[in-house]
Amino acid sequence: MKTAVSAASGRLGHAVLRELLANTVAKNIVAIARTPEKVLASGIEKRSGDYNSVESMSAALAGIDTLVMISAPVGNWDRILLHRNVIAAARQAGVRKIVFTSVIGNGQEQDTWFWGAQQVNRQAEADLQSSGLEWVIARNGLYLEMDLRHIIHANTSGVYRNVGGEGECGYITIDELAFAIARLAQSDHHNGRTFNLVGPNMSQAELVQLANEVLGLKVRYETLSDEENIALLMQDEKIAVRGKDVARMLTGCFQCVRNGAFNVRSDFEVAAGRPVKSTRKMMEELRAGPGDPVRPG
Ligand SMILES: NC(=O)c1ccc[n+]([C@@H]2O[C@H](COP(=O)([O-])OP(=O)(O)OC[C@H]3O[C@@H](n4cnc5c(N)ncnc54)[C@H](OP(=O)(O)O)[C@@H]3O)[C@@H](O)[C@H]2O)c1
Repeated sequence: MKTAVSAASGRLGHAVLRELLANTVAKNIVAIARTPEKVLASGIEKRSGDYNSVESMSAALAGIDTLVMISAPVGNWDRILLHRNVIAAARQAGVRKIVFTSVIGNGQEQDTWFWGAQQVNRQAEADLQSSGLEWVIARNGLYLEMDLRHIIHANTSGVYRNVGGEGECGYITIDELAFAIARLAQSDHHNGRTFNLVGPNMSQAELVQLANEVLGLKVRYETLSDEENIALLMQDEKIAVRGKDVARMLTGCFQCVRNGAFNVRSDFEVAAGRPVKSTRKMMEELRAGPGDPVRPG
């Protein structure tokens, strides 16, 4: 029985492929990507599949039993339609089950600038649940890699700032997410359920303190206003080219932290069959990881 990962050329896609391969032989795994040559895993079949096209995804899904459908990235396109295309293609191709990688949130995100982006994922969850396919929804917590990189960058000024304030959330590494997602794909025990995949909940100040200890940094945490945060984000070239709406959405993510919307119970252990690693352990692994820029300096 073949398991495929779509949008497999990204960070999460590669990690899920690695975890799937740890539990089965390569001929059972298929990577589907817009640009299959970007998929670096060797020994597995790579197929071309674009979320924009039902036909292309349907062809890519021929003979697939289970699909890990990684959510479409935020961009200047209709993500609800992209997710619907993949679900329609899976139905056409006779796929039995989809594991969809979604995003956490306990409902309190309604008053934040993240609400719109998040509702796209909630719509995909609803579309999947009414599709007639077997399903599992893996709601992912914030990537530890991403914010750790920002904290390391802040070592130059000595201050790490965002709008998260005293709010708590559970950071998790892409590898930990992939570990749980692969198990949800390769076992049918949890079909029809939604899981929050997060690490231990902590405040921004606690995260920064931990990064100081593990990575030998000297950074302190400060809160700033929503508008100040947008201005700060727009100084980043990569965000500036994507526009102010993206800066608002990213600010909204930390409004969610601030108001407790991302303070959710972790279902990692039920999903993965082992406890989630401590945040310290995850940081230590990132520090030791090959070629990852998550290092002091
Ligand atoms: N939890 C978090 O903190 C967090 C952070 C960032 C993102 N996310 C979400 O998680 C998802 C996966 O994250 P990631 O880290 O793997 O992102 P990533 O590394 O940016 O990868 C995104 C992937 O989406 C693919 N893609 C884009 N448009 C596509 C299309 N029309 N059809 C098929 N594939 C398409 C890209 O393919 P190409 O290589 O061809 O462009 C790439 O492989 C993101 O899409 C986003 O929704 C979560």
